[in-house]
Amino acid sequence: PAARTLSGRHILVTAGPTHEPIDPVRYIANRSSGRQGFAIAAALADLGARVSLIAGPVALPTPAGVTRIDVESALDMAAAVDAALPADAAVMVAAVADWRVEAAPQKVKKGDAPPALHLVENPDILATLARAPNRPPLVVGFAAETERVVDHAAAKRLRKGADWIVANDVSQDVFGSDGNAVHLVTAQGAESWPRLPKDEVARRLAQRIADALQAAR
Ligand code: C5P
Repeated sequence: PAARTLSGRHILVTAGPTHEPIDPVRYIANRSSGRQGFAIAAALADLGARVSLIAGPVALPTPAGVTRIDVESALDMAAAVDAALPADAAVMVAAVADWRVEAAPQKVKKGDAPPALHLVENPDILATLARAPNRPPLVVGFAAETERVVDHAAAKRLRKGADWIVANDVSQDVFGSDGNAVHLVTAQGAESWPRLPKDEVARRLAQRIADALQAAR
């Protein structure tokens, strides 16, 4: 069994997509299985952390030892993150919808012309958390990129105020698949990991988080 190097630590994880309602029966969403985020929550719990997993709508079982808070929309997720603070670290894996719809209170009826959707920008949960007064000491974001993966991730790290960005190369088959090729981008530079099963990416990242929190103690 793994050494419980994260015992006494509280770590927040967001995972899955968000669903943005159009009306009571329809929504728009991002593509995300939630598997990588759930695997990270499980790996952190295995190292002894108290984990709050804020999960969008996904069909996955709750990992052992993890406290799960289910949410639907980005606004719900932002509120749940806020309510779960303080934390020693936050790992923001969710594929949050960039926009929400000005939703209709009743089901929109099929008419002559398709209705127009009015989109409103959602808050950036990661950027907000990274600049909050009660910011966790370690804030980790994710980035899905199809080209110049490390450059874009390094820019995103600065723009969002995150300590680390885990960059996925999604030009390969990532969504819903078991494997993931990632680069860990920190203030020190970028480290490219080989293509690994999502569980193994999660274990390595959890170990890195344990090392970082240990060093900061
Ligand atoms: O800007 P982009 O969506 O590529 O950034 C991805 C990172 O930001 C992920 O860590 C994701 O969880 C987080 N994010 C967020 N809130 C948003 C958009 C993205 O927390 N509204």
